[in-house]
Amino acid sequence: MSVLAPAGESPERILAEIRTASEAFGAAREGTHIAAYAQARVIRNVTWLLAEGRWALAGLADAGALIDAIRLESYRLSKSEREAIEQAVKAADASVSNRRIARMLGVDHQTVNNDMAGENSPPAPRNANENNGQKAAAGENSPPGLSGEQAARIVGRKEDAADARRERKTDRAEASVLPPGLHRGECRDVLAWEAASVDWVITDPPYSREFLPVYDDLAEAAAHVLKPGGSLLCMCGQSYLLDVGAMLAKRLTYQWQLAYLTQAGGQAVRLWDRKVHTFWKPVFWFVKGRYEGEWIGDVATSGDNDKRFHEWGQSESGMADLMQRFVKPGDAVLDPFMGGGTTGVIALALGARFMGIERDAVAFAEAAERIAGQA
Ligand SMILES: C[S@@+](CC[C@H](N)C(=O)[O-])C[C@H]1O[C@@H](n2cnc3c(N)ncnc32)[C@H](O)[C@@H]1O
Repeated sequence: MSVLAPAGESPERILAEIRTASEAFGAAREGTHIAAYAQARVIRNVTWLLAEGRWALAGLADAGALIDAIRLESYRLSKSEREAIEQAVKAADASVSNRRIARMLGVDHQTVNNDMAGENSPPAPRNANENNGQKAAAGENSPPGLSGEQAARIVGRKEDAADARRERKTDRAEASVLPPGLHRGECRDVLAWEAASVDWVITDPPYSREFLPVYDDLAEAAAHVLKPGGSLLCMCGQSYLLDVGAMLAKRLTYQWQLAYLTQAGGQAVRLWDRKVHTFWKPVFWFVKGRYEGEWIGDVATSGDNDKRFHEWGQSESGMADLMQRFVKPGDAVLDPFMGGGTTGVIALALGARFMGIERDAVAFAEAAERIAGQA
């Protein structure tokens, strides 16, 4: 029997993706929300791996090992998504207890009992023969078996719509005239730009551990592009604050740390591994040389929680409160981790010039469209 991974990907890579997503989304990410697209993909991959003994292809002993490896508690699963996973687990190994499945899903075991008893929703097909029937109908290139088929039904429409949106946005960004100063690429690309040409680098890189190396890039880029006396304002999470500070301090002078309060916007975030509900994030302030500007108050407040333009986006109210105490009309502002472009929108509103860099095509397209509307 040939076993095909979805979209020609290997089971090992799919498991790694699920683990990374689960860890990153469930435990380590600060101030972020799970994108529907990412959630749909994780659910599809979990159900696909559970079907037909594919856990073995991913190097796991049994379905239980897969179940224990995945934590989905931070995902807000709909009833049908939850049931798809429950069905897939039972089809993979009927001896797995409801309590174990509940732990995996992050729900009360009574919820799983009710699902299984058909009390929370109409029952879905459960036996292996039905799986095989659906597999035959699905054809060789789609994930075979009940789980894959179910998952495809559940997430397929969402993913199609998300894919179409991504394509439309990327096409638009490539076809339209970009606002000047926007560059799709890497933070490090700044090293090829004119030195000492920017007054402020104001940015919000990703916070999780796997992104730590970008802070070295940021320090190098800022040291190159800032004018003497220019400042870097860098939002960061709490978890790796000491590492981030040490990286930035290699090239720039530590000035201060501001508090960016998120509670007003209802953005309290649970950090599972630290057991903290956090209501603020630090903003590192580093200077190239010596700061000669005005006195600064060190608390900024975000009044709302705005994820319209980027899943990790900052609110305009918060960025305005932060930036208005530093940026003057005519200043040059760079954000080399532009995301959905909030820094750019506020820089332009303050009468400054803006340059932005973003690696992700969809985020770049979103930001370009937003900033073009502002300019
Ligand atoms: C936290 S988000 C920025 C959100 C932004 N402040 C907003 O309000 O929309 C960080 C962004 O950095 C981008 N990124 C990550 N590594 C990068 C790199 N090396 N160069 C450029 N962009 C990068 C990610 O794609 C992501 O969109």
